[in-house]
Amino acid sequence: MPDNTPKLWLPYAQMKTVSPPCHVVKAKGTRLYLDDGTALIDGISSWWCVIHGYNHPVLNRAATEQLARFAHVMMGGLVHDPALCLADELVRITPDGLNHVFFADSGSVGVEVALKMAIQFWRNRGVKEKSRFVALRGGYHGDTTGAMSVSDDDEGMHRLFKGTLLPQYFVAAPDGESAESPECQESLRQLTELFSSSASQIAGMILEPVFQGAGGFRFYPPEYLLQVRRLCDEYDIILVFDEVATGFGRTGAMFAADLAGVTPDIMILSKALTGGYFGLSATLATSRVFDAFMSNEPGYAFMHGPTYMGHAVACAVALASIKLFERENYLEKIAAIERVLKEELIGVTGSSLRDVRVQGAIGVFEFNSAANLKGLQDFARTREVWLRPVDKWLYTMPPYVITEEDLRKVTAVMREWVSYR
Ligand SMILES: Cc1ncc(COP(=O)(O)O)c(C=O)c1O
Repeated sequence: MPDNTPKLWLPYAQMKTVSPPCHVVKAKGTRLYLDDGTALIDGISSWWCVIHGYNHPVLNRAATEQLARFAHVMMGGLVHDPALCLADELVRITPDGLNHVFFADSGSVGVEVALKMAIQFWRNRGVKEKSRFVALRGGYHGDTTGAMSVSDDDEGMHRLFKGTLLPQYFVAAPDGESAESPECQESLRQLTELFSSSASQIAGMILEPVFQGAGGFRFYPPEYLLQVRRLCDEYDIILVFDEVATGFGRTGAMFAADLAGVTPDIMILSKALTGGYFGLSATLATSRVFDAFMSNEPGYAFMHGPTYMGHAVACAVALASIKLFERENYLEKIAAIERVLKEELIGVTGSSLRDVRVQGAIGVFEFNSAANLKGLQDFARTREVWLRPVDKWLYTMPPYVITEEDLRKVTAVMREWVSYR
C-alpha cells in the first residue's frame, strides 16, 4: 500500500482534515503566486514579518553580498561586521537606555532569552527566590515552553498544556481609552496586589505593549505602560516588553514603547527585523541588567548561545531593512494605511461581528466565534486575497508597501465576508 499521508507536517493544523495548502511558486511585492496561476495579495505579511513585500531588490542585494563573503560563523569567540553594526543600529533606534543586544533565531527563542536573562539577573545578585513571571491575560509570547508559560493559559492556544508548564502569575488585561478606564484600573489593582504579596518571588513582568497579537488582537492605552513601569520600579521587578509583533512600526510608532515613552529593562524584537527574510531575534537589555552579568566570576556569564545566533546574512538583511524603513519614511506609509483601514473598517456592522478595531497597520474584525469564520480562507482566495484568521479574529496586517488599491481589495473581502455571514 502506498503511504499517502503527508510528509510535511503543517503548523496549527489538524492534518487529517486540513485543506490542501496553497502552493507558492513565486512571490514579489505584495503578491504570492501559486502553482495554479493565481496571484494573491498578501493581507497578513506572512505572519506580520514581510513589511517590505517579497523579493525586494535592496534586501536581496544585502543578502547576496553577504553570502558572497560568508553566510554564518559561530558567535562563540567570533564576531563580524553585520552583527556589530546591527547591535549599534538597534541600540540607536530603540528606546533610550537599551544598550546591549543578544541575538537568537526566532521570536520564541528571543522570549526564552529574556526570561532566562531576568532570572539570572537576580541570581547573579544573590536573589534565588525571584524566578517567576507576571503576564497579562490575552497575551501570546510564542510556542516554546517558557514562552508558552507566560501566554494566557486559560483562553490561549496552549491551554491544553495548563499544569505542565512553569507556573506563572496572570493579571487582567488592560483595555479602554485611557489608563483611567475600569479595565486598566482593575489590571493595575491586581498587579499592585500581586506585587505587594509576592514581589520576593517575581523576577519580571512580560507583556506585549499596546497591542496583544495572537492572543486576542486587542489594543490598550499606552499610558497603562507608564503605570506598569512605575509599579515595577517600586517593587523591583524586571519589565520585559515583547515587541516581536509590534516592533518596526506596526502600531504606528517605530516601537509600541515609544507611544508611552517608556523604556523596559528588556525588549524583544523579531518578525519584521529582517523584513521576513530570515529567522532572527534581538533581545535588548539596559546597562543595569547587563552589569549584573559583569564579574570576575565566570559563573555570572549569561549561559546562552544558540548555534545560529547573529547569522551574518540575517544581520546584513536586517541592517538593509532598517535603512530602507528610515529612508523611505515607512511611518508615513503606516499612517496612510491606518487612514484607509479606518475609512474601510470602522463602522462596519453585522450580526456575527462583535467588534472592529484599527490602529497603525492593523485592522481587526472580532466575530462572535471562530465558527463565523469557517470558509473565510477559500472565500478570500477566490477574490485573490490571502487572509488567515486566528480563532474568531479576522485581521489584516499588510506589508507597509501595499498600494491603496490593493489594501482596499483586502478590506473589501473583509467587509464582504461580514455581509455574506
Ligand atoms: C508577541 C509575540 N511574541 C513571540 C512570538 C513568537 O515568535 P516566533 O513565531 O518567531 O517564534 C510571536 C509570534 O507570533 C508574537 O506575536
